Amino acid sequence: MTDQLGIGIAGAGVIGKLHADSLAGIDGARLVAVAEPREEAGKTLAGEHDASWYASFDELLAQPDVDLVILATPSGMHPDQAVQAANAGKHIITEKPMAITTEGATRMIDAATSNGVSLAVIFQNRLQPDVIKLKRAVERGALGTLVLGNAFVHWHRTDAYYAANGGWRGTWALDGGGALINQSIHTIDLLQWIMGGIASIQAQIATLTHAIEAEDTASASVRFHNNALGVIQGTTSALEDYPVRVELIGQQGRAVLAGGILTDYTGTIELTDDLLTEDDQRLLEGWQPGEHFGAGHHRQLREIIRTIRAGGVAPVPGAEARKAVDIILGIYESARTGTRVTLGDA
Ligand SMILES: NC(=O)c1ccc[n+]([C@@H]2O[C@H](COP(=O)([O-])OP(=O)(O)OC[C@H]3O[C@@H](n4cnc5c(N)ncnc54)[C@H](O)[C@@H]3O)[C@@H](O)[C@H]2O)c1
Repeated sequence: MTDQLGIGIAGAGVIGKLHADSLAGIDGARLVAVAEPREEAGKTLAGEHDASWYASFDELLAQPDVDLVILATPSGMHPDQAVQAANAGKHIITEKPMAITTEGATRMIDAATSNGVSLAVIFQNRLQPDVIKLKRAVERGALGTLVLGNAFVHWHRTDAYYAANGGWRGTWALDGGGALINQSIHTIDLLQWIMGGIASIQAQIATLTHAIEAEDTASASVRFHNNALGVIQGTTSALEDYPVRVELIGQQGRAVLAGGILTDYTGTIELTDDLLTEDDQRLLEGWQPGEHFGAGHHRQLREIIRTIRAGGVAPVPGAEARKAVDIILGIYESARTGTRVTLGDA
């Protein structure tokens, strides 16, 4: 077990603050630095956690007591910052989406590998008991031959949300898109994680109710590698945030997750705790029904820090996390070109 890890957070916005709070109570890690160009926000967050504030990411990387960097910056910045961090010998945790181009995701993974550092991506929605039990049961054939897999994200985001912090959200350059790559990515990740990978996509996107560059509404028809078909829908133009849904239909049963909770299940294998691996159990330790936003971050950070100190692969590794990015970029390409887009192997 290595000594305590010094953590540096880049970005003191909404999710940077959540990371700083989520680190509390995690053994073997201490927040030592915050990089944030908005001086007041950066100083405030650093001050609350007895850490040092730096105006630039370069200054944060130059600190010898920073062993691990958390990227809580606008998504389009993640690849360059991750490569810089890896080249400085720092482990990396990045917020989703890890990248907004396939080239960016590849660069991040290659830089982490060649520098021998860990690259983990936050996908906290994976860390829910019903989600993991369903994944394990489907792996064992609980739904029989899978024929349909759907993901629905019907949410509401205001104009003020898109205008905040310089208006980076909903731009192609910094958000990489809109309702899909920012909001729906968690649910798309769950769909592809449980169903298996997506082989091809035919999609349309639209900007219907917001003055943003990218889509606030999207609908895609997909074929999975296992030949099942499905639908992915995402919008930030709904009246309010409805629970996100993942639906799986197989020849021998059906499963519906709403907001990460199983609301319908008729598979052939009972969803008991016996399905959980030791790793699953560690990830779920401390989970509570109706837990607050941030509890999933805490549990994922706890496990990432444990694996970096004790050895092992930190969840969710870059190669796994890029799958949802590749699907979303495939949706954008299909919508742009009006053609069916084929993705790589499973
Ligand atoms: N896991 C989740 O559920 C979740 C939720 C929200 C956001 N996110 C992700 O977190 C990331 C940040 O989103 P947010 O909502 O916190 O955005 P935000 O705008 O609230 O915060 C981003 C911060 O980064 C700062 N920043 C800009 N350039 C910087 C640089 N070079 N170095 C350091 N800081 C810099 C900005 O000033 C801002 O304070 C995005 O990738 C987003 O997709 C994830």
